[in-house]
Amino acid sequence: MPKNTLSVTDNRTGKQYELPIDSGTIRAVDLRQIKLAEGDQGLETYDPGFLNTAACRSAISFIDGDKGILRYRGYPIEQLAERSTFLESAYLLLNGELPSAAELDSWVFNITHHTIVHESIKKFIDGFHHDAHPMGMFVSTVAALSTFYPEAKHIHDETSRRNQIFRLIAKAPTLAAFAHRHSVGLPYAYPDNDLSYTGNFLNMMFKTTEVKYAPNKTLERALDVLLILHADHEQNCSTSAMRGVGSSHADPYSAMAAAAAALYGPLHGGANEEVLKSLREIGSKDRIPAYIDRVKRGEFRLFGFGHRIYKNYDPRATIIKRIAEEVFDVTGKNPLIDIAVELERIALQDDYFVSRKLYPNVDFYSGIIYEAMKFPIDMFPVLFAIGRTPGWLAQWQEMLLDKDQKIARPRQIYTGPEKRDYVPIEHRG
Ligand code: ACO
Repeated sequence: MPKNTLSVTDNRTGKQYELPIDSGTIRAVDLRQIKLAEGDQGLETYDPGFLNTAACRSAISFIDGDKGILRYRGYPIEQLAERSTFLESAYLLLNGELPSAAELDSWVFNITHHTIVHESIKKFIDGFHHDAHPMGMFVSTVAALSTFYPEAKHIHDETSRRNQIFRLIAKAPTLAAFAHRHSVGLPYAYPDNDLSYTGNFLNMMFKTTEVKYAPNKTLERALDVLLILHADHEQNCSTSAMRGVGSSHADPYSAMAAAAAALYGPLHGGANEEVLKSLREIGSKDRIPAYIDRVKRGEFRLFGFGHRIYKNYDPRATIIKRIAEEVFDVTGKNPLIDIAVELERIALQDDYFVSRKLYPNVDFYSGIIYEAMKFPIDMFPVLFAIGRTPGWLAQWQEMLLDKDQKIARPRQIYTGPEKRDYVPIEHRG
């Protein structure tokens, strides 16, 4: 009977160790016993970017990067995109199970009735420069919410946690839309509780003089599916930020502001914005080969391509391509789609991309749809943040309830000078 252990020989000392294997991992702290001498700190692992280190156990989302599989709480993303709604999927992520009809009604009611923000938030947003990036405004106003709800710091109180979860999911679209309205100089449009989550978001974004905004049903549903696709994605950069900041027991608004800040980067949620800029820069299909050559020369990356985990097609990108067709039936075709499809075709025949297993990720096509729906480019990462909010909160809550978790505090390999004595300024060369 094979043992579930790993035998290690330290060739520096000749000593042997047996380390337990659990869930396909060894515990990094078990390496500490491997020492050169009594009193030394013992062996550590070095893993910049966490390429091969599990920092938690999680039951929320599952990815098989080689097979292109994504599941929320066991449910395939394709089925959720086809049959669920964003708020139902959010409930699933946070609670572990699909809701009953009564649970869903109560959940939707609670989210719908927390969409209004304090009037002072408007003053806060008014303080931003007219050309402030909406993601900067979003990150800041999410952080500012913690000052409006000081009880949010009671993170071990289940009722308080639940209230902040309602508020964050409900208010994220309001903050996002207000940031947009500030950018374009339109008066803020208040939430309309008669509308669905995404219908109301479209209302707050685009309502002008009409008494009642009537969202287009196809666009409302397309946006809902896009949010489902972005709702969680295991331990990505922004989720790790959420868990990392949350591990110091900061309130969820502060932790989510950090997560949204991490998402803003072009290697993560900021990629959808970069994709659109690239497609516009390329401008026509005949210029694609020259653009790809520049990527291969290392001048810049092909945004919307590549993923740390997916080494096969990102299943979300497949669904998004389908939604694009439905949206274009309503909005008319975004001409950038032809460039994107051709860019993908050429890239996927090129050894540079094939050998590195670089496929389109969720962000490659999402921006083209958002643009067709009249969202400005700089709103793209904000849309991603609205979608990811339930995932961040589910992961934050899971982290708080996990007895194994401690404050996140990685080790380092010190590479600075040895101890040396202070030199008075007049004696320095
Ligand atoms: N364009 C060109 N080359 C790329 C790209 C790309 N988009 N992505 C990776 N590579 C190359 C790297 O240069 C490297 O090549 P090398 O081995 O010759 O040095 C190799 O592929 C591996 O790349 P890494 O950066 O080591 O891969 P990593 O897993 O760390 O990065 C990431 C993943 C950040 C997503 C990367 O693929 C990337 O920068 N993509 C573009 C940005 C993007 O689309 N981000 C969105 C990701 S999805 C999301 O956050 C929702």
